[in-house]
Amino acid sequence: MSVLEVVHYGNPILKKKCNTVIDFSELSNFIDDMFDTMYEEEGIGLAANQVGVDMNLFVIDISHTDDNESPRVFINGQIISYEGECVFSEGCLSIPKVSLDVTRPEKIIFKYQDIYEKWHEEEFEGLLARAIQHEMDHLNGVLIIDLVSEMQRASVSQEVKKIKKNSELKLKQQSIARGFVL
Ligand code: NI
Repeated sequence: MSVLEVVHYGNPILKKKCNTVIDFSELSNFIDDMFDTMYEEEGIGLAANQVGVDMNLFVIDISHTDDNESPRVFINGQIISYEGECVFSEGCLSIPKVSLDVTRPEKIIFKYQDIYEKWHEEEFEGLLARAIQHEMDHLNGVLIIDLVSEMQRASVSQEVKKIKKNSELKLKQQSIARGFVL
């Protein structure tokens, strides 16, 4: 088990639509690491591309807010239908210290696979529905700053610019550290 590095806004993998998971045989260590990373960063959800892995997979744990809930893994998810609308303040581990009021459907029907490849179709509402939509957006290359009004975006633009700059700098340093490919 280990804590992985969470990539920040500015890293191109966050803009990518992630690949379908086909091979389920080696997922369990990675999923353990995803949970370790999410707990370490104090998030309630984490998508695979946030740790630099191009895979349609995310984890969520809202058990601290709901005794009936336990940690969950969602693979190859698809939102089948939406209902209602609500606004809630969301943060994102890939855009640290920024929170925005995001309008989203209140209820969803979501189809996904578990770690045993079994398909499920479930209705979700409340915080879990919101977290699923946030993580599904990640896997489709969409971030909370893409979902808000121009005015809200402007209110955090300085902070976001800083995050992007640091993220790009880090990528540059990592590619230099790997050596030049000619
Ligand atoms: Ni996020």
